[in-house]
Amino acid sequence: WVLMATAQTPTNIAVIKYWGKRDETLILPVNDSISVTLDPSHLCTTTTVAVSPGFEQDRMWLNGKEISLSGGRFQSCLREIRSRACDVEDKEKGIKIEEKDWEKLHVHIASYNNFPTAAGLASSAAGFACLGNVQVYLFFSLSFIIFVFWGCYAYILKVHWWKIDDDFFSLAKLMNLKENPSQLSAIARQGSGSACRSLFGGFVKWIMGKDENGSDSLAVQLVEEEHWNELVIIIAVVSARQKETSSTSGMRESVETSLLLQHRAKEIVPKRIVKMEEAIKNRDFSSFAQLTCADSNQFHAVCLDTSPPIFYMNDTSHRIISYVEKWNCSEGSPQVAYTFDAGPNAVLIARDRQVAAQLLRRLLFFFPPNSDTDLNSYVLGDKSI
Ligand code: DP6
Repeated sequence: WVLMATAQTPTNIAVIKYWGKRDETLILPVNDSISVTLDPSHLCTTTTVAVSPGFEQDRMWLNGKEISLSGGRFQSCLREIRSRACDVEDKEKGIKIEEKDWEKLHVHIASYNNFPTAAGLASSAAGFACLGNVQVYLFFSLSFIIFVFWGCYAYILKVHWWKIDDDFFSLAKLMNLKENPSQLSAIARQGSGSACRSLFGGFVKWIMGKDENGSDSLAVQLVEEEHWNELVIIIAVVSARQKETSSTSGMRESVETSLLLQHRAKEIVPKRIVKMEEAIKNRDFSSFAQLTCADSNQFHAVCLDTSPPIFYMNDTSHRIISYVEKWNCSEGSPQVAYTFDAGPNAVLIARDRQVAAQLLRRLLFFFPPNSDTDLNSYVLGDKSI
């Protein structure tokens, strides 16, 4: 017999960045972070997990290609989930798995990203959350357009609410875990730090925690999902190429060599977190945009302060920043926030739908379409904005 479960989990975009670990094995961060979760129907990872007495070892495929599971992260995630597994019974199929049986059973996992992997769109955030996701959640939903401009594709994402059907299951569901989402986030965290924030919709905070064993380093939802649904998120995919320095090794090098990182973690982020929570609570776009842009810029400054320096953004990213800054300045108050993760792709957050439509027109004008790109296969969307 074979038992299977499938889950879809979205990616999340940090507006206050996680960069640096105080414990590499348990994945404990040096500061709190805050993110917004995207609609799983557009930017997500779909993971199917199967278990059978016929499987001789744990195996995993990512986008159809088998990957090695020798890394400690996957094993520790699986170990954590296995140790919490409960009895499962499928009466129709006449299958009963008792708690103690899970130790002996192997799993096969197939995971698909519907967006460029390792191009700095936090794909690991979606992937590992999928292994841990168990409940029915509400997420931001994003109706979107993608178009080409100067080697960029823009995903236009409108924020509204979307309910995941409860027939999306995951490894945690398959093994019948009883933990709540925050407790599960602590497991997802051990796969990839940012993943722990994908266990909730809306705005999410990853509390760094103090315990050495990591038990209090988990994610919490900051506001009700419907709280700020005027926001429109646009992702300009500047490049879908795999980044040269992974987040994991990049942040390790920053922890070892950047003094700015230490200052940021101790002096800057704690104050920013308080202000960001306030801005989100009050739907204060001016403060939200100012904090988001400042934090993205400081994260990239830390990368430059690393030895040897790490460059995640490219010329197009810099031009987008200058453009948004000039626009915000000419309007007298911020209309658009930008943030960049460990890659050149721009995440632009417009204050409302009208601004998003205007932003689109402007991007098209300043970054005219260029067919000479390897991204044609990503053109989809409904062009409704
Ligand atoms: C720049 O979660 O990919 O996106 O914990 O080593 O797997 P690991 O790193 P990862 O780092 C993401 C860093 C970031 C900022 C963020 O998402 O907060």
